[in-house]
Amino acid sequence: MSRTLWNDALGVPHTIDQRGLPFERREIALRSCADCEAAIREMRVRGAPLIGAVGAWGLALAIEADASDDALRKAYERLAAARPTAVNLRWALDRVLRRVAPAPAAQRAALARQEAAALCEEDAACNASIGEHGARLLRVLAEQRSALAGMAGADAIPLNLLTHCNAGAIATVEHGTVLAVVQRLHEQGVAVHVWVDETRPRNQGASLTAWELAERGIAHTVIVDNAGGLLMMQGRVDAVIVGCDRVAANGDVANKIGTYLKALAARDNRVPFYVACPTSSIDVDTADGSSIPIEERDGREVTHVVGRLDDGALAAVRVVPEGSAVANPGFDITPARLVTALVTERGACEPSHAAIAALLRRDARVAAE
Ligand code: MRU
Repeated sequence: MSRTLWNDALGVPHTIDQRGLPFERREIALRSCADCEAAIREMRVRGAPLIGAVGAWGLALAIEADASDDALRKAYERLAAARPTAVNLRWALDRVLRRVAPAPAAQRAALARQEAAALCEEDAACNASIGEHGARLLRVLAEQRSALAGMAGADAIPLNLLTHCNAGAIATVEHGTVLAVVQRLHEQGVAVHVWVDETRPRNQGASLTAWELAERGIAHTVIVDNAGGLLMMQGRVDAVIVGCDRVAANGDVANKIGTYLKALAARDNRVPFYVACPTSSIDVDTADGSSIPIEERDGREVTHVVGRLDDGALAAVRVVPEGSAVANPGFDITPARLVTALVTERGACEPSHAAIAALLRRDARVAAE
């Protein structure tokens, strides 16, 4: 898969409007801070790392228009408020801010551009590294499986993973987090099959993850959100692996609504539960999951389902009676005790305060060797 966020020959950042996928691939130019803010707020771009990268470009473009302290502060606040749960947004904005704030106004635009571009490069490299570390971990499960099948004289069975929402290339600058792991296993010749939760209300699993896996030629099956528990009980899931929007200092994980229920079912069925997580998603300033702000989204996402009609047109159809109240929390918290390991670009890590602190002290280059 190519990059999700790239610059054209004139240096204008471009991305894909994900609201049309998998049916329509529409490229959009991000020419201003307002374009970036709208892309994040309206979920044209989604996924924590990509939101961060687009936020960084938003601040760089704001500085190009006006490099004063006042404009910088306003642009920062405006972008940071666009989506509250994914900490990568604030992390990316802070990074650009730290780079430009000490510099005179005349130098700020160039510095901000450099920082946004560097952040994008690092996101791509970081995800490739998550892919390596995750594949190393899951290959052990695949080998155990093959050995058991061999002893029983049975045919080799693929490694069955289950994922929720989308943590593919399209949720990052490149590679994805969860799908970087799956892709690496696939490249290494491990037979892998992915159960893809549809992920209501916006169906990121059914529309984005399934599309990305199909593009990569990786075996997968889309299931409704409530099917995972039964599949785990039947021994048809070897591991659950999800992305995340924020990890608190104690290892609690915020991710797309429904993740917690998968973690409960996984624990009840002794299925390992992994979280693919760039260290940019770890928020040491948030003590535990109870302090992570949960985005409450528009009820229309619950009352309506978007899809393609038989005539090819995209349409939203109502599935809830007019008079019913709806609630739409966008994310939930999976307590650290239900998480087997965080898989980061610096290696796998137990979801505990001490292990996370040690991981963040670890040198990323050494860990990758
Ligand atoms: O609301 P979204 O679509 O932006 O939510 C995305 C998710 O919850 C992803 O699973 C998460 O951000 C991981 S992205 C690598």
